[in-house]
Formats: sequence, C-alpha cells, structure tokens
Amino acid sequence: MIYSRIAGTGSYLPARVVTNADLAKVVDTSDEWIIERTGIHQRHIVADGEGTCDMAEHAARRALAVANCSPSDIDLIILGTTTPDCIYPSTACLLQARLGNHTAAAFDVQAVCSGFIYALSIADKFIKSGSAKRVLVVGAETYSRILNWQDRNTCVLFGDGAGAVVLEASEQAGILSTHLHADGSYKDYLHVPGRVEQGKIRGGDGFTTMQGTEVFKFAVKVLSEVVDEALQANQLQAKDIDWLVPHQANIRIISATAKKLKMPMEQVIVTVPEHGNTSAASIPLALDTAVRDGRIQRGQTLLLEGIGGGFTWGAVLVRY
Ligand code: ACO
Repeated sequence: MIYSRIAGTGSYLPARVVTNADLAKVVDTSDEWIIERTGIHQRHIVADGEGTCDMAEHAARRALAVANCSPSDIDLIILGTTTPDCIYPSTACLLQARLGNHTAAAFDVQAVCSGFIYALSIADKFIKSGSAKRVLVVGAETYSRILNWQDRNTCVLFGDGAGAVVLEASEQAGILSTHLHADGSYKDYLHVPGRVEQGKIRGGDGFTTMQGTEVFKFAVKVLSEVVDEALQANQLQAKDIDWLVPHQANIRIISATAKKLKMPMEQVIVTVPEHGNTSAASIPLALDTAVRDGRIQRGQTLLLEGIGGGFTWGAVLVRY
C-alpha cells in the first residue's frame, strides 16, 4: 500500500504589515471593533510589483529545503489560488518555470479559502494511485487585489501570503483521509462578481462581496459536520487529535468549531491575529508556523479544515 506523507513545510508573508489602526485611517472602523468581531490585529500586504507566484516561490523553496529535495525531484505541482497572476498560464506553471523544473505536471485549483484542502486532497490521490511520487502543494493569495479598500465589511478581514508542503510517497501512513464538499447554490453569500471580456471586467466590479452573518452561520455548521465526518471515517475521537489546524478566517468561527469538538484552544493553531484571512494560504501558513515553532511534532495527529467561497469546504486528517 502506498501512502502520502508531508515531507516538508514552508511559508512566506510579505514584509509590509497593515494594522487595524492603519485601516481606521481609511474606512470607518476601529481596532476594538475588528478585534472583537474577528480576532484580527494586523495583516501582511504585498509590496508594489510583488505577486502570487513571488510569494509561492518563497514558500515552495522553504518547503523543498526542509524536505531535502530539489525542484527537479517534483513530478506534480498543485497550487490553490483565487488570485492568479494572470488568466493563463496557471500560477502553478509560472511557479514551475521559476523553480527551473521543466517536466512536472502543473495546475491551479480554484476553491477560494478551501483551495489548499482541495489541492492537498488531490495530491494525496495522485500519490496513492501511483501517478506521482513527490508533489509540491501550495496555497498562495494576493487577496488584497480583490478587496475594495473603501468597503469596511470586507477589507479588514483579509491578508496576503503563501504556504507550501512537499507531499511524498511513503510506506507509512501520512494523510489518513480527505473529505471534500461544495454547494454552489450559496454563491451569493460570498463571491467576486465579474469576468474579463474584450479587455474589460464585465458583469461585476471584481471586488469581494460578502453577507458576513450568513457566511459565519454556514461556516460553523459545515465545519463541525466535516470534522465529525473525518473523525468517524477513521474511528477516532476528538481526544485522539493533537492539533486542530483550521482555516484562519475569524477567531469566533475557529473557537466555535473547537468548542463543538470539545477541544481546548491550547490545541488549536491560531494565526489569524497576525495574518488575517489569507484564503488558500491560511492553512499551510498556520501549519508551517506551528511546525517551525516546535508545537507540531512528527508522529502527531492533525486535523486540517477549511471553508471558502462557492461554498466549498473540507477536512484532511494527517499523521504528521
Ligand atoms: N468596522 C466597524 N463596523 C463594521 C465593520 C467594520 N470593519 N464592518 C461592518 N460593520 C458594521 C456593519 O455595517 C453593521 O452596522 P449596522 O448595524 O449599522 O448595519 C454592524 O457593524 C454589525 O454588522 P454585523 O454583520 O451584524 O456584524 P457581525 O457580528 O456579523 O460581524 C463579521 C461581521 C466580522 C463579518 C462576521 O459576520 C463574520 O466574521 N462573518 C464571517 C465572514 C468571514 O469570515 N469571511 C471570510 C471569508 S469566508 C471564509 O473564509 C470562510
């Protein structure tokens, strides 16, 4: 039996930090309001000229270094993003060229904040079927591009960044199970209306539009369901999980999911105060942060979960 296991993690955040106080100079908001409703204190935003592939490359090189392999060892690149650098080629192809790899298959996955969960699940299937031996899985977002910086309902929530893992074939179980879902009938709750047509954006303004309270309620409901699904599929209980590594959208969504699991917050990786919601990058950023600071150790059991526009949602259970 072939399994897939995480051989290395990496991440990258742009140098520029935007605090809540900085945003309060631009829109009618306050540090207190943002912290109380979201838990966010600051977010990182790209410098002029810095983009999704730039951040993905930094994260990928760090993950490759930890996995002790070179770009040419990779036979598949899957990159979750909602903010590609261009319509095509995919950001995965741009990254492949940056890394100097000329043969790996490469494609993007568009599942918004669930992009990394989707990408990791696909990578696991490629490895388990014997179609790939070593996969670079990336979540990278220049989310600031699709925010209306005049809209206080959305601009305070998000940030930019990238995270990556190298997933490789192993005789030992690493990824234990993956669980993906979507329901496109909820598209109006959270979407970016618009398409490029004849060189112009048509059918919308290209900015994030959100019904926050509805997103919140739906997120808490389906995340609780999908973590239960992952536990039941493996005949595990919440007490068997060492770390919950959730999508970092909002501290209240994270706490509600942990509470349903009866999991103390000390076992939950929380980076939303410093990173904001970095969409597809948030889970691998949180994972890499906790691996590097020593909280997550080899042999531990991790439950990764996330939800994004679509809606899309899912969970991955990992023996790290
Ligand atoms: N500063 C000050 N006031 C604000 C701000 C802001 N940044 N944003 C909204 N408000 C106002 C609203 O206009 C509203 O004013 P009104 O009562 O005069 O109309 C008031 O605050 C209350 O708004 P609510 O929507 O009731 O506030 P709520 O408690 O629901 O919090 C929030 C809003 C933080 C968006 C919450 O609903 C939420 O976290 N939703 C989840 C959304 C999310 O996480 N999205 C991320 C993308 S999806 C994903 O990754 C899962």
